Amino acid sequence: MTQGIHPAGIRLMREIDLDEVMEIEIASYEFPWTEGIFRDCLHNQYHSTLFVQQKKILAYTVAQYVVDECHLLNLCVRQTERGQGLGEKMVQYLMNQARQKDMGSIFLEVRVSNTAAINLYDKLGFNEIGLRRGYYPDKNGREDALVLAHEIF
Ligand SMILES: CC(C)(COP(=O)(O)OP(=O)(O)OC[C@H]1O[C@@H](n2cnc3c(N)ncnc32)[C@H](O)[C@@H]1OP(=O)(O)O)[C@@H](O)C(=O)NCCC(=O)NCCS
Repeated sequence: MTQGIHPAGIRLMREIDLDEVMEIEIASYEFPWTEGIFRDCLHNQYHSTLFVQQKKILAYTVAQYVVDECHLLNLCVRQTERGQGLGEKMVQYLMNQARQKDMGSIFLEVRVSNTAAINLYDKLGFNEIGLRRGYYPDKNGREDALVLAHEIF
């Protein structure tokens, strides 16, 4: 049982984590990122963060900082660990990091069908600022993405 998120459990993602990250990624998305995408993110200094408990990866985020904007590119919680507040804590942690780096806003895209994620971002105060038509692949063709943003004070 995950009792909140302890800072001691947070660390940066490394290449040796990628097998376990890919297990979670493939189990979580119909169109998962490839290992190469994660590797590129690591090599390009994206901010890739893990939450680890008893040596097991439970959740991760991948974010990119561009000037004063933080872009959340991936957020994923291990299937067996969902519904315990971990997704919320990971985004809160990212928001704190972004604040410390003097970012003005966090942006992200989310599938219009992804109710769990939309509710999570709504709960944390993200606002819908746009729609990208056909942004994601989908088994029936393409799916739209909502563009969400949260200002950082
Ligand atoms: C979206 C995701 C990260 C949520 O993580 P989580 O740890 O289960 O979420 P939390 O327990 O922190 O829930 C926080 C809030 O999110 C919303 N939420 C989470 N799961 C939900 C669900 N199954 N249905 C509806 N709302 C849900 C609720 O508003 C919840 O607040 P509440 O508990 O007060 O109702 C997780 O489901 C996941 O990894 N999904 C697969 C990957 C993905 O879709 N990532 C997002 C890409 S944009």
